[in-house]
Amino acid sequence: MPFSKPFSEACARNQQPIAAILETCLSRPCRVLEIGSGTGQHAVFMARLMPHLQWQPTDLAEAIPAIELWRKDANLPNLAAPLELDVNQSPWPVDSTAKGTKREKNDAEESGYDAVFTANTVHFVGWSTVENLFRGAAEVLKEGGQLLVYGPFNENGSYTSTGNAQLDSWLKARDPDSGIKDRSAVIALAAGYGLEHEHTNALPANNELLVFRKI
Ligand SMILES: C[S@@+](CC[C@H](N)C(=O)[O-])C[C@H]1O[C@@H](n2cnc3c(N)ncnc32)[C@H](O)[C@@H]1O
Repeated sequence: MPFSKPFSEACARNQQPIAAILETCLSRPCRVLEIGSGTGQHAVFMARLMPHLQWQPTDLAEAIPAIELWRKDANLPNLAAPLELDVNQSPWPVDSTAKGTKREKNDAEESGYDAVFTANTVHFVGWSTVENLFRGAAEVLKEGGQLLVYGPFNENGSYTSTGNAQLDSWLKARDPDSGIKDRSAVIALAAGYGLEHEHTNALPANNELLVFRKI
């Protein structure tokens, strides 16, 4: 039977609110590395909406065929073929030495990604994988680059909604190491890798988009 494109209802619901923030953060031409692209829906949606972005989707090996189906159907010049990337690898198998984009007309081009984006990965994995996600992002970002992290977060050890509490139970039943992380712990982790927390954007359904900048 032919493999058909998987579809995530959650992505369809959250892509527009996420895009509204990304349009502000990523208003200039830039190279974006997405971690844990899942079905590939966010990659297609963002690349189509923001043709000034060069979007690189990535995920574990098993997710690559789905992302490739979405990419082929979309046929967008600014959406690259998905790359197999496990954040626990070191170093990440990405071309971070490739030329980045110029910030100003007379600036020299810098190497590294302008932005790393990831949605719904931090709660999905264990803390050591989150550490590797932030370490790797800091390595591949150029100075001044942004790490954009979407998902649910706890506040001072407490859930911010009953929906998030239910999600956490479901996650832990599946993998006891996974679960919703405390926003302050993630911000402290980022700081240790030179990623300064700039802003927390509140998004629908008790999700947030955290913005970090590599200093
Ligand atoms: C809940 S899904 C989110 C997918 C998509 N970003 C979304 O918002 O719908 C979590 C994703 O993280 C990916 N993932 C899990 N462990 C990973 C790892 N070690 N390295 C990279 N990606 C990982 C999974 O394959 C999956 O696609």
